[in-house]
Amino acid sequence: MTLHPKDRKPPMHAFDFRPLAEPDLPMLHAWLQRPHVARWWGPAESVDELREDFLTGGTTQAFIAHHAGEPVGFIQCYVVMGSGDGWWADETDPGARGIDQFLAHESQLNQGLGRAMVRAFVQQLSADAAVTVVQTDPSPDNARAIRCYAAAGFTAVGEVVTPDGPALLMRCRPPRLSAC
Ligand SMILES: CC(C)(COP(=O)(O)OP(=O)(O)OC[C@H]1O[C@@H](n2cnc3c(N)ncnc32)[C@H](O)[C@@H]1OP(=O)(O)O)[C@@H](O)C(=O)NCCC(=O)NCCS
Repeated sequence: MTLHPKDRKPPMHAFDFRPLAEPDLPMLHAWLQRPHVARWWGPAESVDELREDFLTGGTTQAFIAHHAGEPVGFIQCYVVMGSGDGWWADETDPGARGIDQFLAHESQLNQGLGRAMVRAFVQQLSADAAVTVVQTDPSPDNARAIRCYAAAGFTAVGEVVTPDGPALLMRCRPPRLSAC
């Protein structure tokens, strides 16, 4: 198998996924308003709504991804089973986790940073023995995200209809269980 040059190049720096905290909320709110994020992420919520979603209520865990000491992206992670509100009603595996992510800085897109970030996060998740599989669900129109996740080790399962509209369900088995 011939590796893509971006996949051959080892990441220059490790990623550090820091749990979202109160001082991060204005930065996250500003990131969500950037056109390259808003196009795929939906309307930016207010700081108060972000606080309610991630800090005071809800079960989704949110992280600011740091690379070379700088905040470069956002990842949210959830237990798939029991998501509620019409999400993933058929899931029966308590070990399934779902992730959604974006890079904050448009100038950093298309350079392999996204795939390195996703790989590093899946690797971190897989340290938890309870985690059996990780899924993500880009829009079928988001060719860049789909290509990125495939390069990070995710396999397309098929198109699904979610409460947010059509999505391509993609899954990755954590490396400790099998090669993705
Ligand atoms: C999705 C995202 C995390 C991917 O990270 P990234 O660092 O840009 O992605 P990578 O560089 O690892 O991979 C992108 C791949 O898509 C390809 N690509 C870019 N635009 C493309 C397009 N319009 N059609 C097809 N492929 C495209 C790139 O060439 C690259 O493929 P390669 O392996 O052949 O070089 C990042 O682009 C992002 O945050 N986008 C905005 C928000 C978003 O879409 N979030 C995801 C919601 S599911």
